[in-house]
Amino acid sequence: MCGIVAYVGQREAYPVVLKGLKRLEYRGYDSAGVALINDGSLKVYKKQGKVAELEDFVTGKNLSSQIAIGHTRWATHGEPCDRNAHPHLSGDGKLAMVHNGIIENYAQLKQELLKKGHTFTSDTDTEVLMHFIEEIKHSNQCGTEEAMRIALKRVVGAYVILIVDQDNPGTLLAARKGSPLVIGVGKGEHFLASDASPIVEYTKEVVYVNDYEIAILRADELILKNISNEVQTPYIQKLDIELAAIEKGGYDHFMLKEIFEQPQTIFDSLRGRLDAKQGTLTLGGIRGEYEDMLKNAKRIIMVACGTSWHAGLIAEYVIEELCRIPVEVEYASEFRYRNPVIGEGDVIIAISQSGETADTLVAIEAAKKKGAIILGVCNVVGSSIARLSHAGAYTHAGPEIGVASTKAFTAQLAVLNMIALKIAKDRGTITDQRYQYLLNELDAISDKVATALKLSDSIAAIAAKYKDARDFLYLGRGYNFPVALEGALKLKEISYIHAEGYPAAEMKHGPIALVDEHLPVVFVATKDSYYEKIVSNIQEIKARKGKVIAVVTEGDETIRGLADDVIVVPEADELVAPILSVIPMQLLAYHVGVQKGYDVDKPRNLAKSVTVE
Ligand code: F6R
Repeated sequence: MCGIVAYVGQREAYPVVLKGLKRLEYRGYDSAGVALINDGSLKVYKKQGKVAELEDFVTGKNLSSQIAIGHTRWATHGEPCDRNAHPHLSGDGKLAMVHNGIIENYAQLKQELLKKGHTFTSDTDTEVLMHFIEEIKHSNQCGTEEAMRIALKRVVGAYVILIVDQDNPGTLLAARKGSPLVIGVGKGEHFLASDASPIVEYTKEVVYVNDYEIAILRADELILKNISNEVQTPYIQKLDIELAAIEKGGYDHFMLKEIFEQPQTIFDSLRGRLDAKQGTLTLGGIRGEYEDMLKNAKRIIMVACGTSWHAGLIAEYVIEELCRIPVEVEYASEFRYRNPVIGEGDVIIAISQSGETADTLVAIEAAKKKGAIILGVCNVVGSSIARLSHAGAYTHAGPEIGVASTKAFTAQLAVLNMIALKIAKDRGTITDQRYQYLLNELDAISDKVATALKLSDSIAAIAAKYKDARDFLYLGRGYNFPVALEGALKLKEISYIHAEGYPAAEMKHGPIALVDEHLPVVFVATKDSYYEKIVSNIQEIKARKGKVIAVVTEGDETIRGLADDVIVVPEADELVAPILSVIPMQLLAYHVGVQKGYDVDKPRNLAKSVTVE
């Protein structure tokens, strides 16, 4: 949610920052801007719209500079427009700042500043913070770094801020609380960004800045301090991502690339953990006391948002079935603010692709304060949620750039299945035979996903048939009910068609009123314990002239005879089947979005990493 990037060194800074903004555009694309210093003066260029519009806007301008900061915005305070785009300037025009996050007490700070004669050109909280720092600088007669430190002690909210100072043209200042910030350490140069993707091309050495830390960066110098001005030793880590992983690699869209990567990413999630031949399962991130706590958990609470929440819903069914532990699945945003009851023996599993989702982050912070044990299931290594968790398992799906989550979801399911199997084995709630059978099923799932991906063209043809529908209904039962929710979410996100997911049986308690000959109803109806029931539900829709698109298991002639369109996937045990049955959901949404002419990688109003509550 908002991408920030900066460079200081010997190179031309603008091209580095521009490229970085393009890599971070998935975090927001309402407007973009850069600040740089050339001929001794600070210049700011910013424009409403995507980074490409900024690029057009600056064509022909003198952008030569060895220092620059940049921003791509997902609007919070103030509509998306040129005026509200970042960077924001101080009143004297000598400081420029970009910001990711929300300053919650900005209205109060603004009132104080207005009384002191400050005037504002935007509606943003960021400009208020910029002026607040400037005000402190003047009233305390101190430098920008000191003013920033004093200001941040009064700020309530989450932020990463980056500042360039015309009077200090070789220095970048940065600070973090609650939003992500990575420093890239090069030879005679430094980079700053919301994640490692703008950095990996130049250096693999990175420092993850912690909350309440301030970084002072020059070409040859990196100083890290805490908010009390004490110098900290930077912990330099090696990145394990390759440039190819963050590029499209010949696909039209990141989303399609990521859908097609799934046989590999599921395999990567299982690799080194599940050995079906040996009949073993090890999760290196959940060991010792945490392994025991999980085994003896009285209750498991999953907290997550969006697609990750859907993964939690599926895991609820799997864990309750295999481990006989009660599971609750909570929207992180609701969990945080309703004073949840957390007691001894409760284990919280936080599921997040980005590991930066503010709702999930604050939920686990609050639960941790109440003494809860947190296990993280995150994709981004070193992310805030991963670091805040006591233990956990990374999903290892690699960078997910498409805003609509695809490969992260199937990797989450793979990891959550392994967690369930591990608990069941440790508790003795599963027979050896069933354990081995499910290890085999999980092990085989990535090949079945590869088979399902071959359906892309036929799903594109189905998309063409229904793309002009006004609404869609998605129905499933049991393990496939959350898959229906996920299918509906994918469709509305990238095609802007209204879609609802429902438990198939619940449909007759209300949504059935919507059914007529214009309504496409997608059934996730693979062979499982609910099969006979869902066949009846299909008949109920057909009796009302609804159009049925059904995802079925190979060999299913019954539903083929009823449905208008069928999508046939390989057979899989019902516990692991969602990893497979979600593939047609992703492809259908993708093809509908593309056929309607939308930018599926950057759907309107959305951002990949939602770092505000
Ligand atoms: C849907 C989607 C969102 C995210 C949600 C949580 O395609 O991407 O619903 O799943 O914002 O994000 P993470 O998993 O990063 O916490």
